[in-house]
Amino acid sequence: MIEPTPIVAPPSAGVALPDVLAYMRRHALPLRLWVSAALQAPCERALGADLGAQANITVIPTAADTTPPEGPAVLLLALDELHGPLRESLLSWTHRALPGRPIIQGGARNRETLLDAINVWHAFRVVPSDLAAPLLADTIYKAHEALALDLALGRCVDELRGEVARLSGALAELRATQERLLHGERLAALGQMTGMLMQRVQQHFTSMAEFTAALAPLQQTPQLREVLDHSVESTHAMQALLQDMLALAENRSVELALRQELVDDLVQRTVAVFRRDPLARSREVELDCGCGASVRVDRHRIFHVLLNLLRNAAQASPPRQPLIVRTGAGDDSAWIEVEDHGCGIAPEALQQLFTPFFTTKGQDGTGLGLRMSRNAIERQGGTLTCRSAVGRGSCFRIELPRQRD
Ligand SMILES: Nc1ncnc2c1ncn2[C@@H]1O[C@H](COP(=O)(O)OP(=O)(O)OP(=O)(O)O)[C@@H](O)[C@H]1O
Ligand SMILES: [Mg+2]
Repeated sequence: MIEPTPIVAPPSAGVALPDVLAYMRRHALPLRLWVSAALQAPCERALGADLGAQANITVIPTAADTTPPEGPAVLLLALDELHGPLRESLLSWTHRALPGRPIIQGGARNRETLLDAINVWHAFRVVPSDLAAPLLADTIYKAHEALALDLALGRCVDELRGEVARLSGALAELRATQERLLHGERLAALGQMTGMLMQRVQQHFTSMAEFTAALAPLQQTPQLREVLDHSVESTHAMQALLQDMLALAENRSVELALRQELVDDLVQRTVAVFRRDPLARSREVELDCGCGASVRVDRHRIFHVLLNLLRNAAQASPPRQPLIVRTGAGDDSAWIEVEDHGCGIAPEALQQLFTPFFTTKGQDGTGLGLRMSRNAIERQGGTLTCRSAVGRGSCFRIELPRQRD
């Protein structure tokens, strides 16, 4: 809640300076006057001896290297001094006095000095040197009043800034809560749908297994064997995907079927299946494999992770743009990279990439592919990371602990 700073009515014009000082003190307004040595006498005449003592007057020393005290304050400077050897020193006093501003006595002799007084010194007022004492006192009061208003305004602005920051924090918290609720609802719906889907496709999986078993003893051409292999592979991966979806919706983990696998073999088999995807039809998938490393993984999970990366890469690139899949290995780990030269990912999107339901594909994407992929890879002791540049493309990298024989 902002407490408005009271702006009290100043004493009426022509009021005596003692009233002004009393008024300033009553409202805790700053009452500091820094006077150049040349104007000490006229200032004392204007304020009178008693008031001079009360008004907290500092006479600016003539030694150029004196450090000014803490502001804010109102300054009383003589025009001649502003262009003399004390100019730099007086300027540093003027800066320190802000938001208090100087009253410059000596009149504006020409346009340049007037502009200098306004633009460089930010003068509150330029007054003639023979200004009558009561008028000088009145100007000093008005400069203090302006200073008090500036300070009050500054306080209001600070409080408003604080309030804006507090409100933006509350808004961000509200958005995060909304998002969490929405996620919760979506995950519940996903769980229901996946459960239903699993019941329906289970029969298909059983028929597929029976069909493959019936074909096994028969003489098969290499092409038919390949097609059958791919179908079995896809079916298992589909089962694993549905189990993972259900696990994500129910916030639990599934049991993995870990086996030692050759990284290159995993990649080649998945790419062979992907080549049958309509997205891959007019496009080269360049394979740069041959690391020879083994990893201990659930091959069906790696299959659906790679397939999602390949599909994402193809959807992000123009139709004939090739995709590149590489494998490699270090002493302790083996890695697979899927690279495209497509649209790339903006930094804001990059931060949300692995958040459930983040998609830029509207109805065509669930936004679960990468989240589930990261879950699957991390459960196998690995990492899934991405580097990307807008307009240049993206590279997703799976890194897994290397298995030694
Ligand atoms: N290679 C890529 N290039 C550019 N953007 C990508 C790439 N891969 C992923 N993205 C961005 O990340 C988002 C999330 O990908 P994710 O695989 O999780 O879900 P999706 O592909 O949108 O949906 P689904 O996987 O269900 O088809 C995508 O919608 C896309 O905006
Ligand atoms: Mg995807």
